[in-house]
Amino acid sequence: MKVPEPLSLAFGSEFERLISDFITQENLLPPETTLGSNRFLARAVIPHILKLSQLFNREDKNQASSLPAYWKDSSNPQNLRLAYFLYFMPCNLFRMASIWAELSRLGFRWKPKTMRGIEFGAGPASGMCGIAAGEKFASVGAPPSANWALIEQDQAMLEMGARWAQVYTQTLGSTDWSTRTFHRKIDLNRGFLPKSAPDFNLWIMSYYLNELEITPQALAPLLLDAWDQHLEEDGLVILMEPALKLQSRKILELRKAILLEQKRRKRDDLLILLPCLGHQTCGALENPEDWCHEEVTWWRPPYLRKLDQLAGLDRKSLPFSYLVIHKTRRSREEVLPALKRAPENKRHRLVSPAHAEGRDLEFFTCGQDGKRRARLRTEQLIQRGDILLGSELRGDVNASRVEGKPEIIE
Ligand SMILES: C[S@@+](CC[C@H](N)C(=O)[O-])C[C@H]1O[C@@H](n2cnc3c(N)ncnc32)[C@H](O)[C@@H]1O
Repeated sequence: MKVPEPLSLAFGSEFERLISDFITQENLLPPETTLGSNRFLARAVIPHILKLSQLFNREDKNQASSLPAYWKDSSNPQNLRLAYFLYFMPCNLFRMASIWAELSRLGFRWKPKTMRGIEFGAGPASGMCGIAAGEKFASVGAPPSANWALIEQDQAMLEMGARWAQVYTQTLGSTDWSTRTFHRKIDLNRGFLPKSAPDFNLWIMSYYLNELEITPQALAPLLLDAWDQHLEEDGLVILMEPALKLQSRKILELRKAILLEQKRRKRDDLLILLPCLGHQTCGALENPEDWCHEEVTWWRPPYLRKLDQLAGLDRKSLPFSYLVIHKTRRSREEVLPALKRAPENKRHRLVSPAHAEGRDLEFFTCGQDGKRRARLRTEQLIQRGDILLGSELRGDVNASRVEGKPEIIE
């Protein structure tokens, strides 16, 4: 996915200064210690980054139940939170902002009177801050005023997240953004929200669903119930999850289950907007070894590059899986006008990198005709996430050729 330059450049030294001032104010650094201290980072932060990385990348079959109550179980919860805040929060913030930018580049415009957002499993409000950054650097015309509800089971992280969100959104110039915190553990036996909860028009879950012990098939009706009751007409839902095979397949299964459940309820007001360009059967799900993810690159904050070096990790490019769902009666083309330029059966998204094969580029595409390996002769540099408009695929699923001189949306 190509991210607009102002967004990919928005996490340089100014952002680093903001982070540094914030953690100092929060007393997360020992006296006389700064974010520049390699010794402190190596001793107090890196071990927690490695531990969290291992937890989040867990490969066990039973994903959610193998996850300990990590905020609570730590020997040093303060440094664990600091490690998450310094390392994982900015990455998820940037991923979320990139999804917003994808909506923007396809012409999505969204003008409710006020943004009424809710973030589940908010941690340090990474998702909410990602929306603020997305709107600042790749606007969809959202209103300047926003009220957010942050829900999180860890109180210390939640309160810190709300304070960070206030600082970050103010710095971006979003002065009319407010947050309310709800310290609670969501119990799905009781649904996502109590009946008395208000309506929202922006519903986000960032790296949260994979921590719930529930199958996509059981999750879909719960989500539909919640969106029935608490998502406004013209509301948006953004679900973002890790790019790992198991977790990514779960979000693909969830898409399938949502579409089935909506059909069962004889409804058609939920449009799965992105990344798929239609409601077709998922091509990746057909092969049990396959999955689907996006990837974005950015100019990391300088301290994060240092953390990467110290930890032997690399967050230069950030993979993730996601779904954007829109509650609307309008058509996909009305909502994403950039797609109007080609009929639905002539739109394909690159779902892999492209590599040279002779004078062609080869990649996998996804469209109404499923997932296919395809070649295209073009001088343009294309990458995962780009969209071909007016493309006609000839040949079989393993060796197609893109014909029809497609327009490329990068
Ligand atoms: C991986 S973190 C993601 C945090 C943040 N959304 C982000 O993208 O950086 C998952 C968060 O979900 C919270 N969480 C998991 N299960 C929860 C539940 N049942 N109720 C409330 N919060 C939950 C965890 O405490 C944790 O802070």
